[in-house]
Amino acid sequence: MDTLTALTQRVSVPRLTEPGPTPEQVRQLLAAAIRAPDHGMLRPWRFIVLEGADRERLGDIMEWRLLKRQPDADRKARDKLRAKALRAPTLIVAVAEITEHHKVPAWEQVLAVGAAVQNIMVAAHALGLGAMWRTGDLANDPSVKARLGFADKDQVVGFIYLGTPAVAPKALPDETPDPFLRELPDD
Ligand SMILES: Cc1cc2nc3c(=O)[nH]c(=O)nc-3n(C[C@H](O)[C@H](O)[C@H](O)COP(=O)(O)O)c2cc1C
Repeated sequence: MDTLTALTQRVSVPRLTEPGPTPEQVRQLLAAAIRAPDHGMLRPWRFIVLEGADRERLGDIMEWRLLKRQPDADRKARDKLRAKALRAPTLIVAVAEITEHHKVPAWEQVLAVGAAVQNIMVAAHALGLGAMWRTGDLANDPSVKARLGFADKDQVVGFIYLGTPAVAPKALPDETPDPFLRELPDD
């Protein structure tokens, strides 16, 4: 698939099944990720790849967070959350590890990791994989960041779910760039 086709035809795939990406495909996705633009070459991206039973550890964190907030959460609610970590064969947690820098503010480092995630999304599509970028409250919880091995200054940019599409690709929205164009205001 050529690059422009991948960029313009990519869609998110919310329902994913086995098989997940091969180890070689995971390497390709990460290789694409680390070619994102990065002001100051700070290399802010960190990736945790979770496959198979390792995904349960993210489920543990989700359940642990629920119980901290709602100690009486019932089994059903706990299992529902745990199941989220198993929604796809492979998960990549993408985190911006922020470096204090005189010229590159934190927001630029977060954007660089966002660009890295988008590279993963487009590369996954080009490889015929399904992918879905998710965040949710989990991404902004300092205690979750700590359990993932990061500090509060860092930012979880996405939980990227990867696998084989379990549903037909949704139709692309019928959109053009025109509504997003603006003119410079008059002086
Ligand atoms: C930073 C970020 C976080 C997102 N988090 C979620 C999420 O937690 N849950 C969700 O359903 N969609 C989330 N989305 C949106 C989907 O990834 C997806 O882009 C959206 O469903 C539109 O589908 P499309 O990518 O095919 O246009 C997020 C997107 C971004 C960029």
